[in-house]
This record gives sequence, structure tokens and C-alpha cells, in this order.
Amino acid sequence: MKSLLIIDLMNATRRVAWVTGAGSGVGRACAEALAERGWTVALSGRRAPELAETAALVRAAGGTPLELPFDVTVDDARDRVEAISAATGGDGLDAVVLSAGANTPRRSWADQSTAEFARIVQTNLLGVVRSADAALPGLRSASGVLVVVSSIAGWRPSPGAGVAYSASKAALAPVVRTINDQEAEAGVRATLLCPGDIDSDFLRQRPVVPGAAARSAMLAPGDVARSAMFAIDAPRHVRIDELVISPLSQRSS
Ligand SMILES: NC(=O)c1ccc[n+]([C@@H]2O[C@H](COP(=O)([O-])OP(=O)(O)OC[C@H]3O[C@@H](n4cnc5c(N)ncnc54)[C@H](OP(=O)(O)O)[C@@H]3O)[C@@H](O)[C@H]2O)c1
Repeated sequence: MKSLLIIDLMNATRRVAWVTGAGSGVGRACAEALAERGWTVALSGRRAPELAETAALVRAAGGTPLELPFDVTVDDARDRVEAISAATGGDGLDAVVLSAGANTPRRSWADQSTAEFARIVQTNLLGVVRSADAALPGLRSASGVLVVVSSIAGWRPSPGAGVAYSASKAALAPVVRTINDQEAEAGVRATLLCPGDIDSDFLRQRPVVPGAAARSAMLAPGDVARSAMFAIDAPRHVRIDELVISPLSQRSS
């Protein structure tokens, strides 16, 4: 009887997060950081094997993984949130990290296509909007934190980042700001996280893929995850509206 009570108490205090882009890079690093805090972490992305690898890391770090494959451009975000709720007892979402993102090597007006522009906006802007919209009821009921992974390219002009990418990331600022204006009363806090160069798989989408020396000067995904945790760990009366993090060597063009 006593041990049952202890298990109930442990479950009652277990916190729940949903991470998109969880199969690699920043999303994976955030999932691991949340697992180190003992959280249940729902992991979303398109590639099931990568999610399974993150799930193993989450387990090893002391968290409980829930693998939820999800393409933010086509799948129903509400289904994923309902699945999280069903698996965790419906206590809401203490944190949501939206890290899924896309770019293309074809970044200028001369070589981009409108179809590719649409895919990037579907992923980086509408994917975030759909996920946030689905997550908001859970965030409200847990007074949770939403971290939207934007980019330094959405914070200040970054010509190399491309037309579609810059436009889609810049549009995330009003998304986060309006959530903070309209959802504060419900206890929801949102953070716009704007990282500079990160040594991750994302670099493969550049016109020229950086070599090992350039990569070694960049942020590591764990550096960005630490910033996300700063927002997530803040007391409930504290909101981190925006965070910009860049490697020491990064210049503005
Ligand atoms: N790397 C950088 O230099 C840099 C700089 C600033 C900001 N960022 C931003 O940081 C975020 C994370 O990127 P990262 O550096 O960690 O690179 P990454 O390892 O390539 O992560 C991107 C993630 O997005 C997921 N994803 C892409 N399209 C998706 C879709 N349609 N549905 C669901 N998931 C999708 C990918 O998983 P699947 O392929 O399995 O779906 C992948 O796990 C992105 O939003 C990116 O824009 C990156």
C-alpha cells in the first residue's frame, strides 16, 4: 500500500514535455536536458529510427520517452497532443519545444522555386502555428512554457540564410508575442529562441557545407538546449520573451 502511494506521488509530480524536431540536433538535446530533470518527453519528427535513438538517450538520462512520429506539414497536431494526454494522464503540458525546421540550398530569388518556398513556410511557420495551437489547451492547464526555436536570421537580416527561411523565421516573432499578450492570464509563457550557427545536421542544407574547422567554432545543440532550459526552469511568474544566442565568432553578415 505504502509503495503504491509512493508511485502515485511520483506520477503526480512527473512533468510532461513535447518536443518537435526531437530526432536530432537542438530538439534531441532539449529532450535529453528535460530527461535529466526526470520529465516524460514526447518526441516528434518524421524519422522513426532517429526518434528511437533519442528515446534511448532520454531513458538513459532518467526520463520517460514517448515516440510520436509527426510531420508538421501534413499530420494533425491535435492527434499528437491527444496521444500525449492519453499516455500521461491528461495533466497538461509543462513545456513544449518546437524545434522542427527546414531550409534549402537554393536560397536566392534567382534559384528558389515557389513550391520550395511554400514547403519551408509550411514547416517553419505553419508547422509551429499548428503545433502551438494544438498545445495551447495543455499549456494552459499546466501553466506551461512554450519555446519556439527561430533563428538569428529571423531576428536580424542574414542574407546568407535565404529568402524563404528568413521570412518564415521572422514571422515567428509576432506568433510568440501574441501568445504572450493573449495567454498570460492563463499562465502560459512563450520564448522566442534565436540561435546563430549550430553544428548540427541542418548545415547539410547550406549551399556550401561547412568543414570541421568552421563547425568547431559554432554552437553545439547542447548550448541551445541550455538556453531553452533557462526559459523552462524559470519560476512561474517569470517569462523569458526572447533569447538570442550566437557563437563568439559570429558576425552580422
Ligand atoms: N543549425 C543551425 O545553424 C541553426 C541556426 C539557427 C536556427 N536553427 C533552427 O534550429 C532548429 C533545429 O535545427 P537543428 O540545428 O537542430 O537541425 P536538425 O538536426 O536538422 O533538426 C531539424 C529537425 O527538424 C525536423 N523536421 C524537419 N522537417 C520536419 C517536418 N516536416 N515535420 C517534423 N519534423 C521536421 C527534422 O527531423 P525529421 O527529418 O526526422 O522530420 C530534424 O530533427 C530548426 O528550427 C532550425 O531552423 C538552426
